[in-house]
Amino acid sequence: MKNEQYFAANPTSIDKEFTFNEKMIGKNYQFYSNNGVFSKNRLDFGTLTLVDVVANLTLSPKTVLDLGTGYGPIALFAANQYPKAQIIATEVNERALKEARKNFEINGLESRIKVIKSDLFSNINQSFDLIISNPPFRAGKKLINSLVEQSFKHLTMKGQLILVVQRKQGEPSLKKKMTEVFGNCEILKRNKGYYILKAQNIE
Ligand SMILES: C[S@@+](CC[C@H](N)C(=O)[O-])C[C@H]1O[C@@H](n2cnc3c(N)ncnc32)[C@H](O)[C@@H]1O
Repeated sequence: MKNEQYFAANPTSIDKEFTFNEKMIGKNYQFYSNNGVFSKNRLDFGTLTLVDVVANLTLSPKTVLDLGTGYGPIALFAANQYPKAQIIATEVNERALKEARKNFEINGLESRIKVIKSDLFSNINQSFDLIISNPPFRAGKKLINSLVEQSFKHLTMKGQLILVVQRKQGEPSLKKKMTEVFGNCEILKRNKGYYILKAQNIE
């Protein structure tokens, strides 16, 4: 299908796997990728900005969720950044899940990252100290609002939700929603139209 969205559960485009190498925070990774997955040819600039900002925060989470892992870059970063933490990677797109599992394995981190097929939090029964995501904005505002609301319910006390958003994808309305739900929202970084937003569970 020509206009297929990257968040289709079962992409109908030809299953054609390939690899590329790219650095995150100065460390080289190999990535398996495929048609029908987000940012298939190289890491997304928003993803790179997000991991760069999070790497510079002084955090020591015990539990981390990468919501909408795609082929897995944020979960790989988190597993290396927080060696003692349990990392959960969720996704709805079967093909992205397949590539994420391979990427966790070839980068030697499969024992550190648990992969769960889950539509937002539908299959998640725990709370997290940190939820990081490059969210699926193309799935619509209703889903993004639900992501913020459900993230709040799945954060431990002082737990943080950190998201990347482009101004043109609706940064002002996302910031408004995060502020409504959490009672706080901070812009950690602005970079070429991309914003890194953080909200904390201070209830
Ligand atoms: C913007 S992409 C980011 C992918 C990856 N984290 C990265 O940084 O390259 C958002 C991802 O969320 C996934 N997604 C879409 N709807 C979802 C849902 N309801 N629950 C979980 N993941 C979803 C998409 O399939 C896509 O892989």
